[in-house]
Amino acid sequence: MKGVKQMAILLVSAALLVSLSGCASSKPKTDAELGLNQQQASGRQIFQAYCSSCHHAYSSTGSTGPSLKGLFRKKYLPSGLPANDRFVLQTIAGGRGMMPSFGGTLTEQQISDLLAYLHTL
Ligand code: HEC
Repeated sequence: MKGVKQMAILLVSAALLVSLSGCASSKPKTDAELGLNQQQASGRQIFQAYCSSCHHAYSSTGSTGPSLKGLFRKKYLPSGLPANDRFVLQTIAGGRGMMPSFGGTLTEQQISDLLAYLHTL
């Protein structure tokens, strides 16, 4: 029984080490390194201009807003709503809590590029 517990501790520390070393590279990856197509790359620029001041895309730590890492890979959004286009678009266009709305700032094309990028996170 003791062996099992030690094994578990070892596994947890190994996982921690791996995740920590993943964050060690401070240089942001290029669009090519991330495998982004043209639309996703354009969405990334919009994200950097309008969203990155409050949201991290590649780290799970929260900022002013919650981390958006793996946004669509999870079943639920940070608010608990289902993680799908409809609710994410609603937040972008209408704002949410302390988050400003971008419906009047971004064009439909920009929002659709942004959404394509968010799907890569
Ligand atoms: C001024 C800071 C700020 C900016 C800029 C900002 N957000 Fe947010 N965002 C927040 C905060 C705060 C929340 C949490 C809102 C809440 O649930 O009360 C949030 C929540 C979210 C959520 C989660 C919604 C949910 O249902 O859980 C998404 C998705 C999101 N933001 C996307 C974006 C995108 C995309 C942009 C850029 C167009 C952006 N945000 C710009 C502050 C910001």
